[in-house]
Amino acid sequence: MMRLTIIGFGNQARSWAFNLKDSNFPVRVALRSKNASFESVASSGLEAVEIGSSDFFQDEIYALLIPDHLHVEFLKNYGEHFRPGTTILYAHGYSLLKHQFELLYPNINHVLYAPKSIGSELRKQFQIKGKLGAVYSIEHFHGDSLLFEQWMKNFSKALGINLGPYKTTIKNETEADLYSEQGLLCSLIPYAASEMFRGLTEKGIEPELAYFECWHELKLIVNAMVDVGPKGFFDLISPNALIGSEKGFQKLFTNGFQNNLNSLLSEIQDGSFNQEIDEANVDEIRNRIINRWKASPLQMTFEKMKQENP
Ligand SMILES: NC(=O)c1ccc[n+]([C@@H]2O[C@H](COP(=O)([O-])OP(=O)(O)OC[C@H]3O[C@@H](n4cnc5c(N)ncnc54)[C@H](OP(=O)(O)O)[C@@H]3O)[C@@H](O)[C@H]2O)c1
Repeated sequence: MMRLTIIGFGNQARSWAFNLKDSNFPVRVALRSKNASFESVASSGLEAVEIGSSDFFQDEIYALLIPDHLHVEFLKNYGEHFRPGTTILYAHGYSLLKHQFELLYPNINHVLYAPKSIGSELRKQFQIKGKLGAVYSIEHFHGDSLLFEQWMKNFSKALGINLGPYKTTIKNETEADLYSEQGLLCSLIPYAASEMFRGLTEKGIEPELAYFECWHELKLIVNAMVDVGPKGFFDLISPNALIGSEKGFQKLFTNGFQNNLNSLLSEIQDGSFNQEIDEANVDEIRNRIINRWKASPLQMTFEKMKQENP
């Protein structure tokens, strides 16, 4: 089995590396220089190699698991040094779609391989044999694609992917990923939870109870939704929950809501969101959002309950 060199040892990379190692899939980790991560890689029984060293360029398949906005710089530094026919896997299509690496570095096969999971869950679900999905695109692969897909099948199994991997395009993965972050996962869920928590506590409901209702139960109910599917979920809930669900659906999911969702997607597809990303000051935005949540009653209740229930 052809070895995979994972570049980086962050959120995704760590889980990829440990899952593959536990599955006896040949893997090593490439890092910038002899920094603290080198120790951490070596002490966990993984092979480490320095990015840019002659040994680094030995392999045929790499996974570039460093933040997306740094892919351009990485390829500027090292893109020309990879042997022709080398394959690089990307865990998200964003940089590929934006910079068209296939035109800049045509000697490299630029392959999308996106596990649909945050890094920590990729590891956790692997350990408990949970369900993990992935999508891929070989639209910029120019070698023996049958052979490569066979390698990818074995690699997927070793990584713990047991839903798919399903074929897509780089454009589709990028747009769907950005849209689900904006419309559901990183906006609707946390902000609806926070608003509901505020509403309940303002009416005198104990913060611990409000925390259970609006935050902790999210995890449990989503588990059930994913395990039994949408129909199974609505079969499962109590009559009161069913009647309440219909009432909430009618009241909250208005045309305005649908229009706003549509406009999020069109701004992704017409490139305006890309421009927003280019012009954004990420540090300023992160600080502003972290400060908002740091001071939120929901966060304070989370911390208090964590301390009381270690
Ligand atoms: N976060 C997630 O769970 C998640 C989910 C889905 C997809 N993805 C995708 O996975 C990829 C990696 O994201 P991530 O969140 O896992 O990244 P991350 O944790 O922020 O990556 C950190 C790693 O990148 C290395 N690094 C940073 N700058 C570098 C450079 N200029 N050259 C070489 N190495 C550098 C760091 O090495 P040092 O130790 O040297 O600093 C560190 O090992 C992205 O394409 C992302 O879209 C991530």
